[in-house]
Amino acid sequence: MTRDRDLLVENLTLGYHEGVVIDSLDLVVPPGRITAIVGANASGKSTLLRSMSRLLTPRGGQVLLDGKAVHGMPPKELARILGLLPQSPVAPEGITVADLVGRGRHPHQRLMARWSRADEEAVAEALVATDTVELVERPVDELSGGQRQRVWIAMALAQRTDILLLDEPTTFLDVSHQVEVLDLLTDLNRERGTTIVMVLHDLNLAARYCEQLVALAGGRLYTAGPPADVLTPEMVRSVFGLRSEVIVDPISAKPLVLPRGRYHDVPDIDSRDPVADLPGRRHVPSSA
Ligand SMILES: Nc1ncnc2c1ncn2[C@@H]1O[C@H](COP(=O)(O)OP(=O)(O)OP(=O)(O)O)[C@@H](O)[C@H]1O
Ligand SMILES: [Mg+2]
Repeated sequence: MTRDRDLLVENLTLGYHEGVVIDSLDLVVPPGRITAIVGANASGKSTLLRSMSRLLTPRGGQVLLDGKAVHGMPPKELARILGLLPQSPVAPEGITVADLVGRGRHPHQRLMARWSRADEEAVAEALVATDTVELVERPVDELSGGQRQRVWIAMALAQRTDILLLDEPTTFLDVSHQVEVLDLLTDLNRERGTTIVMVLHDLNLAARYCEQLVALAGGRLYTAGPPADVLTPEMVRSVFGLRSEVIVDPISAKPLVLPRGRYHDVPDIDSRDPVADLPGRRHVPSSA
């Protein structure tokens, strides 16, 4: 079992050059729970995750892990507790899958120490969990986008941290692997108590899998809470500039967003004319 860790973002301001990207953000990450972060492109999600894992120094405020500022912690000590899967990780040229996943064990290894049984087990388990066993001898740069993404997830799992931050873990994955990866993160959360924080673009999958949904807009916290409270048409319109309907997902009973668009904009989905929905009939966008 992992330990419950208190991870807290306090009045955090982040930026690059002159611009501010995250502005005075406060956020509590509930220990042992799954948090999903959503927001429009360029709203600062990756910037926030990078700073939570000490890769980006705050302009103001701090990220506290068990009461200690992460930016003051030795990188290896932090990496034994908190792992980050970045949005676009870059593998060393020519590295094999086995070696890359093995690198997840570095924070646990002392200099010149032998590869231990615990290292072996952690890597083997991560490969099985991500369905990448048959790829171990392949060079990472020869894999498909989805295979590569699963290998990076395997590396993050092999690190066996109490907290796992994942920046769009489902990118490049086909629909079945998306569900598989999110189920796997849920297993990790339920069986080991791992705290999960993930950035997701799919609002419906985010709502299904998280306990806390965080919506960022323009570098600020728009709202945070249980998905049923956060995922509303008002939030979708304010945060993404998109009109939508939100219904109850018949499978998970969580909110399910149906985006409207100029070509699919039935005035009221509950009272629509079934004839108009026949194949070949075109919905005329309403003038609203
Ligand atoms: N290394 C960098 N140097 C300068 N500006 C950057 C850097 N990285 C990000 N930015 C800028 O910071 C802003 C926030 O970027 P960030 O990557 O955090 O957004 P995001 O919410 O993760 O977006 P996406 O959904 O597209 O991944 C953007 O305007 C981006 O151009
Ligand atoms: Mg990003």
